[in-house]
Amino acid sequence: MKIGILKEPEIENRVALLPDQVKKLKSENIHILFEKGAGKNAFASDADYKEAGAEVVSRKYILENAEMILGIHLPAEEEINALKQNQILIFVINPLVYTESVRILKDKGLTAFSLDIVPRITRAQDKDILSSMATVSGYKAVLDAALALPRFFPMFMTAAGTIRPAKVLVLGAGVAGLQAIATARRLGAQVEAFDVRSEVKEQVHSLGAKFVEVEGAREDKSAGGYAVEQTEEYKQKQQQLVQEHAKNSNVVITTAQIPGRKAPVLITRETVENMSPGSVIVDLAADSGGNCEVTEKGKNIVFNQVRVLGKTDYPSTMPIDASHMYGNNLINFLKLLISKKGELTLDFDDEILKQSCVSHHNEILSDRVKKFIEKL
Ligand code: NAI
Repeated sequence: MKIGILKEPEIENRVALLPDQVKKLKSENIHILFEKGAGKNAFASDADYKEAGAEVVSRKYILENAEMILGIHLPAEEEINALKQNQILIFVINPLVYTESVRILKDKGLTAFSLDIVPRITRAQDKDILSSMATVSGYKAVLDAALALPRFFPMFMTAAGTIRPAKVLVLGAGVAGLQAIATARRLGAQVEAFDVRSEVKEQVHSLGAKFVEVEGAREDKSAGGYAVEQTEEYKQKQQQLVQEHAKNSNVVITTAQIPGRKAPVLITRETVENMSPGSVIVDLAADSGGNCEVTEKGKNIVFNQVRVLGKTDYPSTMPIDASHMYGNNLINFLKLLISKKGELTLDFDDEILKQSCVSHHNEILSDRVKKFIEKL
């Protein structure tokens, strides 16, 4: 089987597979094609890929000859339109946002899997790129905040006086939030965290942070580990409490997202106006509308002497480790699709394969994506 890995667009530094991972995937029956220059921004040269056993070729050659095409960002529409029906694509499609991409793949009759919608079950954990990329974002957000903050994170007792530790508030204690808490704690900050899912309370405590509780949250076990939309009454209570805590914080990191919806506003304009000058907000939900009302997607701005960082590409800023994690997730996913002998095994009775498949023989197989698109 020929597997082709594409070079990502200019804005992306990651690559779907690093040379060491090519060695793991390659076998007697698996031939790996790599687009020339694909690993350059992740510090992997064409020579490294050749040495690992891949063949370095043109993009055109991969698109025309690979049975399976791998990457992070989907190829352009005209490239997809030129593919053959039996080719398989594995990318991060973000199908609840880019519904048009799903339509194009479906109309063309291609088989396409989206690694950002693998179901949240234990067996799928090692294939879940949302978790691994959220780990990168949570970590890097805190480092960015520490650099932008005009104060120290840790406590210092020096001959020049005592420096009090910075206060960090983390909103949303999922994968990114928990990593942000751990990183801020490692840097010596005092950390508080808040989430609508009460089950995270213990995890927050175990990282040495305080859990801020708002009673009466709606939780839905059938939402597959995701948060659900809250009532108006709850939102008001929450906004008030968040405002009180944000006012007393030097840094606020927000990570709250609801799949397929605009991110909930947790930090209003008024809250930012009430924060101390020099404070920093890092909004990790900037891509889906932002948790902070003044966030500008992809930009770092100053609002009322508060820095609001709205970066949306943290994983791309750490291309070595982020690519390594992505590649491992991808290889684990491929184990469901390729037998030990290197043969294709499209078994849609496997829940992970079915639920992450956005297109197969002109049909959407993922129930979540199908339901979402039917409702539009
Ligand atoms: P996410 O990126 O969808 O959301 C981040 C966090 O924001 C979540 O903890 C969510 O509860 C919280 N949030 C949403 N709305 C909020 C609001 N209005 N106010 C405050 N917080 C709000 O979620 P993420 O980080 O991708 O995953 C959440 C959880 O799902 C993980 O902690 C884990 O337990 C579970 N999970 C399980 C997986 C598996 O078993 N394969 C894989 C990934 C996650």
